[in-house]
Amino acid sequence: MEKKFFDHIIHGGDYNPDQWINTPEIWDEDMRLMKLAHVNSATVAIFAWSLIEPEEGVYNFEWLDTMMDKLHANGISVILATPSGARPPWLAQKYPEVLRVEESGIRNEFGVRHNHCLTSPVYREKVRNINRILAERYKSHPALKMWHISNEYCGECHCELCQQAFRDWCKEYYHNSLDELNEKWWNGFWAHRMTDWSQINSPKFRGESHVSAMKLCWNRFVSESHISFYENEIAPLREITPDIPITTNFMKLYDGIDYQKFAKKLDLVSWDNYPAWDKGRNTDEALETAFVHDAFRSMKDGQPFFMMESTPSLVNWHDVNKLPKPGMQELSSIQAVAHGADSVQYFQWRKSRGGHEKYHGAVVDHCGHENTRVFRDVARLGKNLEKLDDVVGKYTDAKVAVIYDWENGWAVKHFCGFNNVNRSYSDECMKWYKPFLKKGIAVDVIPMDADFTKYDLVIAPFLYMLKDGTIERIEEYVKNGGHFAATYLSGLVDTDDRCYLGGFPAGRLKDVFGIWHEDTDSLPEGMKNKATFNGKEYDVVHVCDIIHSNGAKVLGEYKQDFYAGMPAVTENAFGNGKAYYAAFRNDDNFAADFCDMLIKAANVSPDAPINADNGVLIRKRGNCIFVMNFADEEKAVVLDKEYTDLISGNAVSGKVTLPVCGYMVIE
Ligand code: GLA
Ligand code: ZN
Repeated sequence: MEKKFFDHIIHGGDYNPDQWINTPEIWDEDMRLMKLAHVNSATVAIFAWSLIEPEEGVYNFEWLDTMMDKLHANGISVILATPSGARPPWLAQKYPEVLRVEESGIRNEFGVRHNHCLTSPVYREKVRNINRILAERYKSHPALKMWHISNEYCGECHCELCQQAFRDWCKEYYHNSLDELNEKWWNGFWAHRMTDWSQINSPKFRGESHVSAMKLCWNRFVSESHISFYENEIAPLREITPDIPITTNFMKLYDGIDYQKFAKKLDLVSWDNYPAWDKGRNTDEALETAFVHDAFRSMKDGQPFFMMESTPSLVNWHDVNKLPKPGMQELSSIQAVAHGADSVQYFQWRKSRGGHEKYHGAVVDHCGHENTRVFRDVARLGKNLEKLDDVVGKYTDAKVAVIYDWENGWAVKHFCGFNNVNRSYSDECMKWYKPFLKKGIAVDVIPMDADFTKYDLVIAPFLYMLKDGTIERIEEYVKNGGHFAATYLSGLVDTDDRCYLGGFPAGRLKDVFGIWHEDTDSLPEGMKNKATFNGKEYDVVHVCDIIHSNGAKVLGEYKQDFYAGMPAVTENAFGNGKAYYAAFRNDDNFAADFCDMLIKAANVSPDAPINADNGVLIRKRGNCIFVMNFADEEKAVVLDKEYTDLISGNAVSGKVTLPVCGYMVIE
């Protein structure tokens, strides 16, 4: 499949000419440098509100008009931002309700950014207004190619307006019935039964912090508030510029917003990618970054996404900001493209002279010229990206999916019990993703309500909460021949965070998996059990379910403690398919061997028949195969036949050695 927003890979990024308003000669120099760097797109005006509207109702667009024209004249397209990510001081001063109230109940003063109330009618109105004016002004400008809405939506507000909105949300969610809310929140416990909607407040440390179902509702409410804030923002844009695609930049696996839901409202998903390279774990960092790319790619059924930001060198917000080695940024960018990005964009084009981010990497450094390592690297990459038109718009067809579900992530975070320390949901999901990527098998990363039927194999790590309908969908999938694997603590609570009665995993899943989960043991850090599987022994850490087989074939057993000899790994034939259960938290060794078995059982094969060494990742997109060396030493790959390397233009075959950070895109 294919979906193209542009004909070429977009190369560019955040450009803030508003910071250089008093030195317009720099603007002209920027145009020269952008062309030298093979930049074809600039994301403009993200934080420019105080320049665009210096006083309420007074607008200043001269500079932006000039900039749009200049960029266009130089063949650079514009991704135009709406300015709601940071408001001007006058706005906060005149309308304090736009400022966010923290959990403490104290209203923030003006400062930093991303700190608006999500509910404030005044702020929503002001944002709609400025967006309408922007859209009217630039609707016919030939440079305008995409809208960048706000910036990295995040956080939550606890003001009175938001409290009331939360109460209204609960009222609607629970069908106007406090009885239902009391039942779902299990308010009979600790004398919490409510008698009036006004008794609901946002979760906070000094108030209600122990009702997990309520915290889950708050997550849903906050997430939906961001989405409705966004919908308010885009209303005038959709009306005035219906043909201009809309995106907003997401932040990795940020859990304050259900990105899987939000993505449905975007034309194109984009995200800001800042891996911590060169800290001694590049291969793992690459695998984890790949997981995130695939999560974003999967949000719109495999449609290409944008890498809206990345750093061309270092960041300024790690504890210690190590310079990535030469070539690392290029390899990192190529990885994004391999996984479905149709853009490589930077924060930011030119380093700020002052302010908080003046030491954050940028394409043009304070020296102001092109004779830097970073600039040369960016320019070389820009030139190479021009050779990759063949992949633009191309989807990847995955036969394997790992479920990583935002709402389940919330539920996992909130419950109190078992192992309260070691239970990172994202780590667990990544662990089950990595073995496939290492073998060159593409994986979709999907929510639990996605369509399973297109996959040969679905893995559900730590599927603790089940949204409505999930049991039936798993059952149907396996019955019809699917392979489905789950891990420990799966199927414990329903969508309202109440435990299933009648034994775990929930309801009919006991038949699908052929097991009954009676108990759960938790192991403090450093304490281990052992489990067998396929004649080998593996470490058992953190959490282990004590399960009984109700017909499932036992593939492995615990070795120690009072549950020694009880099943630890099971396989159950159900209908035409099979369901597997790995009952304990384990490590990469077990995940690799268990996934090997699943790959064979589900008959999944690598996307490209290329043998590679550890540290080399292979990914197919369209007809192109990306071969990327993330190891700290040179690595060899063996090609099955002759290919053309799109970057060098040369024919390649047989054994090829990739230097550190080396890559090929072969067709
Ligand atoms: C985020 C923001 C940018 C910038 C970068 C710095 O991604 O969107 O404005 O602050 O971080 O890494
Ligand atoms: Zn608020």
